[in-house]
Amino acid sequence: MSNSPQKQAPFQYQDLGPANSNSRAEILAGLREERKRISPKYFYDDTGSALFEEITRQPEYYPTRTERHILTEHAMDMAAAIGTGTVLMEPGAGSCEKVRLLLDALKPTAYVPMDIAGEFLQRSAARLQSDFPWLHIAALRADFAVMPSLPQGLPAGPRTLFYPGSTLGNFSPLQATSFLRHARRLVGDGGAMLIGVDLHKDSAILNRAYNDSAGVTARFNRNALHHLNRILPADFQPLQFRHVAFYNGDRHRIEMYLESQIEQTVTAAGEVIYFSPGEKIHTEISCKYSQESFTSLAAAADLNVQNCWQDADNLFAVFLLTSDSP
Ligand code: AVI
Repeated sequence: MSNSPQKQAPFQYQDLGPANSNSRAEILAGLREERKRISPKYFYDDTGSALFEEITRQPEYYPTRTERHILTEHAMDMAAAIGTGTVLMEPGAGSCEKVRLLLDALKPTAYVPMDIAGEFLQRSAARLQSDFPWLHIAALRADFAVMPSLPQGLPAGPRTLFYPGSTLGNFSPLQATSFLRHARRLVGDGGAMLIGVDLHKDSAILNRAYNDSAGVTARFNRNALHHLNRILPADFQPLQFRHVAFYNGDRHRIEMYLESQIEQTVTAAGEVIYFSPGEKIHTEISCKYSQESFTSLAAAADLNVQNCWQDADNLFAVFLLTSDSP
């Protein structure tokens, strides 16, 4: 909590979509493909966002606690490198928990959390506002893969993008480059990005992290089908699909699927989709990087690694990126 004067700063919330009708076309296109797939953004309805928070508390899922440790330990160094008084934006902010570790050190002029799960975001941002009354918060419900334009009325001055949790890893390297290019435009000259990245490691640690013994990741994965049932609508029976997650060492990524346990058909937005037994829907990738491979990814978006903070076991890293231009 901050020692700053307790003056009440503005709180804004704006819904920038996407509309269900756009999502419907996108989902059906993925389900019609030879290798069925849905975007990982469909994990995140209200229940999915809560399940993700539960994943972060599982003993096998090391990224969240490791990153929290790095942020807590190095918040002052990060603030010194970035400078105080920036507009801080966070795509995929969800619970808005991690930013709390930076606010007192970074003292941003405004915080712009973005998430596709609008109700969840609204509640988290309101909680944050009551704990940090001095902070101007402008929350946006948006599909941040397509970087939204920022709301009116934000303070002028440098901008910083905070993208923790290795959420960038849920994009392919090509998509991640394009995301970073968009983000570079959004922060502008003199802007910075603080990005959490999950590092290469023993595959056993990774396989455990995405197959927790309490089955929370499995519920999170299947919840995407409950979400589709509502927005399409469709009649998926989530329990007829098995959670599958494994580390693909050649591509340095976790791959996650829902595998049909039986031969079945599902009606989705009036369309009949056939599943053979064992057929999979691809739901997520979670790419892991090394210092070198992440530096190359940043370079492809004309960004420089300015600094990098890691934990003692080299599980996770937080990179500070700045733009190449003077
Ligand atoms: C949000 N994202 C970074 C998580 C990850 O680790 O890729 C999502 C997740 N999927 C399964 N467990 C957690």
